[in-house]
Amino acid sequence: MTSTVGIDSKSFRQALGAFPTGVTIVSTLQEDGQPRGFTANSFTSVSLDPPLVLVCIGKTASSYPVFSEAPHFSVTVLAESQKDVSSLFASKSPDKFSSASWQRGPAGSPVIEGAAAWFDCRRHQVVDAGDHIILIGEVVGFSHSNASPLGYCRGAYLTFSLSQDAVAAAGHRTLVGAILEKGRSILFLESADGSLQLPTGNALGPVSNDKSLHGVLRRLGIEAELNFLFAVFEDPRAEAGSTSIYYRGSIDGVPADETRLRLVGLDEIPWDRIKDEAVRSMLGRFVREQNEDTFGIYVGDADHGTVKALAS
Ligand SMILES: Cc1cc2nc3c(=O)[nH]c(=O)nc-3n(C[C@H](O)[C@H](O)[C@H](O)COP(=O)(O)O)c2cc1C
Repeated sequence: MTSTVGIDSKSFRQALGAFPTGVTIVSTLQEDGQPRGFTANSFTSVSLDPPLVLVCIGKTASSYPVFSEAPHFSVTVLAESQKDVSSLFASKSPDKFSSASWQRGPAGSPVIEGAAAWFDCRRHQVVDAGDHIILIGEVVGFSHSNASPLGYCRGAYLTFSLSQDAVAAAGHRTLVGAILEKGRSILFLESADGSLQLPTGNALGPVSNDKSLHGVLRRLGIEAELNFLFAVFEDPRAEAGSTSIYYRGSIDGVPADETRLRLVGLDEIPWDRIKDEAVRSMLGRFVREQNEDTFGIYVGDADHGTVKALAS
């Protein structure tokens, strides 16, 4: 399949990735009764009366033949605690459902437990659309919970409750830090004893405050773009009410004359040189998610109708 003349497919994917979405699992039972499912962020509400929703599936997905014929399907909206479920259903694992908790919805399709919401549908219409088909379903049953939904934007998961935690932390003693990426490396500051720290400040800004994160970065000569809130946690060893807030961001490079700065590859982090246990554990999660996130960003790749890593 060729790209449309004049459209750069990588840039098109990046532009589409700027639109934040939720993350869903689309499921059905195939003819022999085996459950099938895949991760999708193309879910959209369509109509209130009749109640219609849609989701797009790529023609190269292995479950495409099943979904293109399925008389019913469900859409489960994942909670933010369910990133591992998203990764599982975005994989080619032959038996995704044996590792997930699920039950059958009223129209018969599997719905995943512990989710923010689910919609069980019977097929209303299937529309052929380029390298995808659009499955339009009529909702015959649904449910929702108070769980905070998982978000997705620019190839990264978003957790909305983190922002609320950060707001709640305001006014307490805070440490504001950043995991700054350049490609597949992270920026550390090396101390005289060889230990590695992430850049931190006592507040996010302003740049004029030398002790704030933006001020610290400016003094180091680093131009950083902070993208997402990545973690908010209380340090159990620090005084009560002390909260750490870490952003995820990117840098273009490091000034050559600043000898304390180290760019360390994600697969080469010397864990024993990171003295802070909470930071070690947070970075461990970061590396795991980065390694799992080989799909990068899903936007229906123009070449193959499948997923491509944003960095590639
Ligand atoms: C966050 C995210 C969103 C995705 N959204 C879609 C989507 O909307 N449609 C689609 O066909 N694939 C989407 N994918 C890719 C599929 O989940 C992936 O290709 C999966 O392997 C398909 O499963 P299957 O091969 O068992 O059919 C997405 C993946 C991720 C990680």
